[in-house]
Amino acid sequence: MSKMRAVQVSQPGGPFEIVEREIPEPGAGTVRIKVEACGICHSDSITKEGHFPGIQYPRVPGHEVVGVIDVVGEGVAGWTAGQRVGVGWNGGYCGYCENCRRGNFFACSIAGQVTGIHYDGGYADYMIAPASALALVPDELSALEAGPLMCAGLTTFNALRNSGARPGDLVAVLGLGGLGHLGVQFAAKMGFRTVAIARGTDKEALAKQLGAHLYIDSQAQDPAAELTKLGGAKIILATVTNGEAMNATMGGLSVGGKLMVLGAAESLNVSPLLLIMGSRSVAGWYSGTSIDSQDTLAFSVLSGVRSMNEVFPLEQVNEAYERMMSGKARFRIVLTTGN
Ligand SMILES: NC(=O)c1ccc[n+]([C@@H]2O[C@H](COP(=O)([O-])OP(=O)(O)OC[C@H]3O[C@@H](n4cnc5c(N)ncnc54)[C@H](OP(=O)(O)O)[C@@H]3O)[C@@H](O)[C@H]2O)c1
Ligand SMILES: [Zn+2]
Repeated sequence: MSKMRAVQVSQPGGPFEIVEREIPEPGAGTVRIKVEACGICHSDSITKEGHFPGIQYPRVPGHEVVGVIDVVGEGVAGWTAGQRVGVGWNGGYCGYCENCRRGNFFACSIAGQVTGIHYDGGYADYMIAPASALALVPDELSALEAGPLMCAGLTTFNALRNSGARPGDLVAVLGLGGLGHLGVQFAAKMGFRTVAIARGTDKEALAKQLGAHLYIDSQAQDPAAELTKLGGAKIILATVTNGEAMNATMGGLSVGGKLMVLGAAESLNVSPLLLIMGSRSVAGWYSGTSIDSQDTLAFSVLSGVRSMNEVFPLEQVNEAYERMMSGKARFRIVLTTGN
């Protein structure tokens, strides 16, 4: 068998096409992965719609990939065929350019790439990934469990552990989608007093099940006022795709509190007075490296954090993607190849 199935987008805004392609051969410094599962992240809309400079089409999306190393390319040390690995948003780095030596792996000027954007991702039977993008997947996690941890999990875990919040602090997670439902679990397991904020009442029971101590319905209540009543949030982890929803929480930051923006909303209104009078801040958080992914996987094994998934076969990618975009997914949709 030298052919495989791949889901490609041929042009910005175009549909997903299920095509047959040659199984690619790994070049120097890369491995071939036989893909088992790939989560559908809201950021895959960037590839689908062309919201990123320099995407070459056709392109295969997917950056929550888990599978098994099938063939190891030339010059790859430390990885062997048969190992279970994952690939996330950070598609690799050289490790020796000036940016990498400063620890700014995302700014790597030699090999810095985004999986599923600059090269083909995991909506396929096989993919090629640079060795520096690989995370080792522990035996305790199935491919379906590990997939969403490669981006949704990694981003929320890494943001929270670098947020400056300490055990007992009030941490609010805004939005209960793929990222948010993992953010709530991580926040609770890290020992924060965890508040989930989402639209409507139907997610309240699920939020509590995921470990939220408190729930705010942003449609029926004023989230800023509710957070203020609770003493103010040290951290608001904003996973929503909507700037107004973020604006509506900002007044609920405590003195020294910080809004951590994860969701790619179009714009945000920030009141300078709110920031100044209370030394509050607004900061972005961008994903993490492959070793941060390994930390996320290890913490999830340790603490029992698991993604709540809806599983679709690769062929049903259009239906699966639409369901994610509609906000109906509870909470992450994962594609399986059957490999
Ligand atoms: N910073 C990073 O490194 C990074 C990494 C991965 C993803 N992202 C970005 O993070 C965001 C979330 O990704 P995801 O995969 O978790 O998406 P998702 O599963 O589709 O969830 C989207 C979330 O946005 C909220 N939302 C959507 N429309 C809204 C509206 N009109 N008003 C208020 N809330 C609205 C939903 O809130 P409810 O729960 O209230 O329905 C839901 O929680 C995306 O923008 C994605 O591109 C960033
Ligand atoms: Zn993602």
